[in-house]
Amino acid sequence: MIGRGSKLFRHGTRRPRNHPADVVDGLEHMNGLDGTIRGISAVISRVLRPGPVKDALHGVPIGHPAHPSLTDVPMGCWMSAAVLDLTPGGERAARTLVTAGLVGALPTALTGWTDWSALHRGQQRVGLVHAAATGAASALYAASLVARRQGRTAVGRMLGFAGLSLLLSGGYLGGHLAFRLAAGANHADKLAHLVSLGWHDLCKLDELPEGWPVQRRLGYISLFVLRQGEEVHVLADRCAHLGGPLHQGRIVSDENAESCVVCPWHGSTFRVDDGAVVHGPATSRQPAFHTRISEEGMVQVQPVP
Ligand code: FES
Repeated sequence: MIGRGSKLFRHGTRRPRNHPADVVDGLEHMNGLDGTIRGISAVISRVLRPGPVKDALHGVPIGHPAHPSLTDVPMGCWMSAAVLDLTPGGERAARTLVTAGLVGALPTALTGWTDWSALHRGQQRVGLVHAAATGAASALYAASLVARRQGRTAVGRMLGFAGLSLLLSGGYLGGHLAFRLAAGANHADKLAHLVSLGWHDLCKLDELPEGWPVQRRLGYISLFVLRQGEEVHVLADRCAHLGGPLHQGRIVSDENAESCVVCPWHGSTFRVDDGAVVHGPATSRQPAFHTRISEEGMVQVQPVP
């Protein structure tokens, strides 16, 4: 039984700090980073305009964020270089791997900053520290390469090991961002297993405004619903990028004159017909529904498998 004077009662609101991830959680609340975040965000939005390059950096063409897989290149090269640095006769191969890692770090950083620019503020704070650690690791590896080329192999190795320590710390923060803060994950639930088989009544067709998206519920699932004449388009309302409310988005036409919805949070653009991603930052298709109108004027829906 817990008494009023017990330790647990007095410290009941304190968050336990049991492992490193709990400590990293504290970074999310470091508002001292916000001035830097605003400055970097302004530069990124000036340099990187919406369009195919930005979409490619987000990973739209491959249907996944591009950054996580690209991190394998510098990480793999530099970890292998560390093993070779501990192996007699491995200096030449280690130098090649340090160089390859530096080449791979460039697209890795570009994709990372692009994704970072479309995150929530708490995620951006952690992401900024992640970027600082991995950027400093890259600088140490560049210095390591210079030292190796000048024949100062021992110094080059030491700089490499220092870079590796920072790289692993930065990698840990990257994992925290992806797995604890769900940056880059698909935030739109797959609907096929949440809705029973068959057609479901949604609402009357004449209740829906023409050309204006609204929110409707199917059980506990929130849906984006758009009526265009006798056609009704239905998508999951929760944006695949970070869960923004699509029914509050703008309706636009893509280059093929197909109707799309633009998420109000970070501008991901989805075709209303089938939920395909037209522009990122989202990389996952928005779950869509087949629709039909019954003789009584009821809109009925069925998830697209
Ligand atoms: S929540 Fe980010 S684009 Fe929709």
